[in-house]
Amino acid sequence: MTIVAQAKDLKRVYAIRRGLFKPPAQLQAVGGVSFTLEAGKTLAVVGESGCGKSTLARMVSLIEKPTSGSFELDGMETARHGAGMSASQSAQMRRTVQLVFQNPYSSLNPRKKISDILEGPLQINMPFGKAERQQRARDMLAQVGLRPEYANRYPHMFSGGQRQRIAIARALMLSPKLVVADEPVSALDVSIQAQVLNLLADLQAQLGLAYLFISHDLAVVRHIAHDVLVMYLGHAVEQGPKTKIFAQPLHPYTQALLASTPGVGSRTTNRIVLKGELPSPLNPPTGCVFSTRCPYVQQRCIDERPQQRLVDERLVACHYADQFLVQGFPSVASADNVFLAPAAV
Ligand SMILES: Nc1ncnc2c1ncn2[C@@H]1O[C@H](COP(=O)(O)OP(=O)(O)OP(=O)(O)O)[C@@H](O)[C@H]1O
Ligand SMILES: [Mg+2]
Repeated sequence: MTIVAQAKDLKRVYAIRRGLFKPPAQLQAVGGVSFTLEAGKTLAVVGESGCGKSTLARMVSLIEKPTSGSFELDGMETARHGAGMSASQSAQMRRTVQLVFQNPYSSLNPRKKISDILEGPLQINMPFGKAERQQRARDMLAQVGLRPEYANRYPHMFSGGQRQRIAIARALMLSPKLVVADEPVSALDVSIQAQVLNLLADLQAQLGLAYLFISHDLAVVRHIAHDVLVMYLGHAVEQGPKTKIFAQPLHPYTQALLASTPGVGSRTTNRIVLKGELPSPLNPPTGCVFSTRCPYVQQRCIDERPQQRLVDERLVACHYADQFLVQGFPSVASADNVFLAPAAV
């Protein structure tokens, strides 16, 4: 196994201005996320809007620096970027990771031909002549399932699915090891989504790519992920092998997410409907980040933030994950008493 990327306790805090005479507020968009990503594997990041998925994607794709924590890419510590690293080392590090965005309509320059879009990265980074660049662009088009002669066309001449193939081709021109895809199929028709997902899976198998795949759609995640990281309010509440998490989630938030997606929740467990609204990240709960919306909340959850710990092969940040493992998620009507009268186990 080859480790492509390793994140340790990545944090990102934004200073939010509140007016001329007030000090800026601190918004913690990502509050300490760790993961290891191997070649040929996909880590899917899921969670509702505003939980920090894109912020994590920007840190992993080196667009933004973490406020703290470490991020190693292909064995190099990226936080050192700029200090103690030569220009060529830094350029090489940046080539190692590429990004595919959600919207293929806005991510391709409408005034450039496909050939220019694909050859651009080579022109800047590689010592190839014109003929070699052209050939590589055409080969890449074929590899993403498009005809090489499309190189002479402009982005508006393509459908959404084809444009996303072109965006993927552009990301692969510099032979990255890690591709960060932020909601890459969310803007596409459902019928086209599967084709693009299959393309991503084929490319991964051929090239040994590692993917950090961001999505709010659990049906898509189930299709493509090896590992899953569930985020809530900037924190990883549950992470581990997809098969484990989809078969039996152990964090109430994961359970709620699965239950809200038709066709992916496990049949045997109860549906959890979340109460209340997502708290403001400017004023997160002090104990468990999920405590204000958890149907199983106990006093301990309000007093003490649960640390991630290993339960049944995944990391869970819940004081009661062991109970949920044994008892499942009791019906919400009786949830108030669930831990006060422990089941005989
Ligand atoms: N540049 C920024 N300055 C200030 N706050 C930011 C900035 N970028 C993100 N945030 C805040 O950080 C939090 C996480 O945002 P992020 O975009 O990472 O969420 P997300 O999970 O990608 O959401 P979505 O599913 O809607 O794309 C949000 O509260 C957001 O308002
Ligand atoms: Mg986002």
